[in-house]
Amino acid sequence: MKTTFAGLQLGSDEFAADLANSLSQVEDLLLGELSSEEEVLTEAASHLARAGGKRFRPMFAILASHFGPNPHAPEVITSATVVEMIHLATLYHDDVMDEADMRRGAPSANSRWTNSIAILSGDFLFARASRLVSTLGPDAVRIIAETFAELVTGQMRETVGAKSGVDPVDHYLKVIWEKTASLIAASARFGSMAAGADTETIERLTRIGDAIGTAFQISDDIIDISSVTGDSGKTPGTDLREGVHTLPVLHALRDSGPEADRLRALLLEADGVTRRPLHEDAEVAEALALLVASDGMVRARADLQGYADAATAELAQLPTGPAHDALTSLVGFTVDRIG
Ligand code: IPE
Ligand code: IPE
Ligand code: MG
Ligand code: MG
Repeated sequence: MKTTFAGLQLGSDEFAADLANSLSQVEDLLLGELSSEEEVLTEAASHLARAGGKRFRPMFAILASHFGPNPHAPEVITSATVVEMIHLATLYHDDVMDEADMRRGAPSANSRWTNSIAILSGDFLFARASRLVSTLGPDAVRIIAETFAELVTGQMRETVGAKSGVDPVDHYLKVIWEKTASLIAASARFGSMAAGADTETIERLTRIGDAIGTAFQISDDIIDISSVTGDSGKTPGTDLREGVHTLPVLHALRDSGPEADRLRALLLEADGVTRRPLHEDAEVAEALALLVASDGMVRARADLQGYADAATAELAQLPTGPAHDALTSLVGFTVDRIG
């Protein structure tokens, strides 16, 4: 069995086959947990799992488990499945909030069915994730409950925007840690805990998750600006249509010159402060082109590299070996995927 993750060969054939075996157990458990007696619910709740997805969080949990004495414990598979289920639940709800029509290269659940069906599917996924995590004991239940609350807090903070007097970049960084990095960090914590790793190793892997997770969302936000339609399995420009200002935008809005002036005219109301969602395709295309060519984009790429470097520095403190090499590739992936 051969495993590549997003085109990366993660280690020797033997180690890659081991990862592939764990991931295929996750797939079986995942699809099993998503079935219900109600046919429509099964179809809607397993729609995104079947459509594709990178399985970044399960992969990270499984790699983290290789820093413990027992990476083949059944709890590792359970942990890796739980984090993907929580992720999936948030995707169903996120696409309703963002009015997104495409996900994982397929129609989003809200566009394929309705908002109601998408919301109920997300709730069902969360319920099934809660049932599964209960088999891991009360500590695991508490960690997932806290992580889910952080995730919701991040989505709420993003929706309401930065309060006056708060630096928008600080606000952004807090939001992306909450909505994305918290679950990626929890994936590392879960995987290493389930494999019986020592406390210091668990904490270090969690910090690596904080940094990789932050980098992961910055790269997602860059991709929303610079990718070609279809490449990411999502529709580029979704953030601007929702009036969500991500890191390249926040940097570019502080630039000077005629291009930055035009960007401010497009993305802000006349008061120069209030975010202005874009509705016209031509305006979205113009704003994306300005952003791609901006200094703000250069600075966002540098910030992304900074978080990847922080992850690499923590990684240097962990024992070398195939899992270390594979995690190094995963850090590289979070940077290189922006193209
Ligand atoms: C998308 O996550 C949501 C973010 C937190 C950026 P992924 O990029 O991991 O999406 P899938 O799982 O591969 O579809
Ligand atoms: C939301 O961020 C991340 C979640 C916690 C679901 P985005 O809105 O940027 O995620 P995508 O781009 O839709 O995947
Ligand atoms: Mg979204
Ligand atoms: Mg996005």
